[in-house]
Amino acid sequence: MTNNTTWHETSVSHEERARQKQHRPALIWYTGLSGAGKSTIANEVDRKLFELGCHTYLLDGDNLRHGLNKDLGFNDIDRVENLRRTSEVCRLLLDAGLILSTAFISPFLSDRENIRRLIGKSFIEVFVDTPLEVCIQRDPKGLYKKAQTGTISQFTGISSAYEAPQDPEIHLKPEEMDLEQLTEKVVQYVIDGGFIYGGRS
Ligand code: ADX
Repeated sequence: MTNNTTWHETSVSHEERARQKQHRPALIWYTGLSGAGKSTIANEVDRKLFELGCHTYLLDGDNLRHGLNKDLGFNDIDRVENLRRTSEVCRLLLDAGLILSTAFISPFLSDRENIRRLIGKSFIEVFVDTPLEVCIQRDPKGLYKKAQTGTISQFTGISSAYEAPQDPEIHLKPEEMDLEQLTEKVVQYVIDGGFIYGGRS
């Protein structure tokens, strides 16, 4: 489709932004069931990277559904659109040079692969692998109970699919580590990946 618009190159380059910030942009993409611990871990990692002097930001699925994505529900088409919009926002924030964390269930492999393709080598997929039974038992928002009684439909893990990552950059098992260890594992991956100049630690 043509809409008679022209792409305008910006004058500040990616290299200049990275030099100013002393790090390369990265997208740390957390995926997992509702209640798996994505937001909690993403927040801890975001804080640690911020304290290391990185320019960071965190996008949370629940929060975006209060604004940009408030018109979307949880059928497959809306979930795809939720992540399409989110990935475009990510692209802009990466263009600005940030180290970005996202916490979305992002249940479909094909959507996550699209994001990986769009973002390229800055994409770090983190599988927050908390088993469904544990999420059901925790049920921090009471949503699993509602899903099981049919008050909420199309709930991930109950009445809508979750396709686990096959080869994520980082595989976290929150049952086997405490929050500090989980955080450390992700932060260390960012440092070892050479994203942060001078390897601050
Ligand atoms: S995604 O599937 O489109 O990636 P997203 O991460 O934005 O989901 O939102 C998930 C959050 O919405 C859950 O943590 C939960 O709080 C809430 N939610 C409400 N209804 C549903 C539902 N049917 N399935 C999953 N999550 C739901």
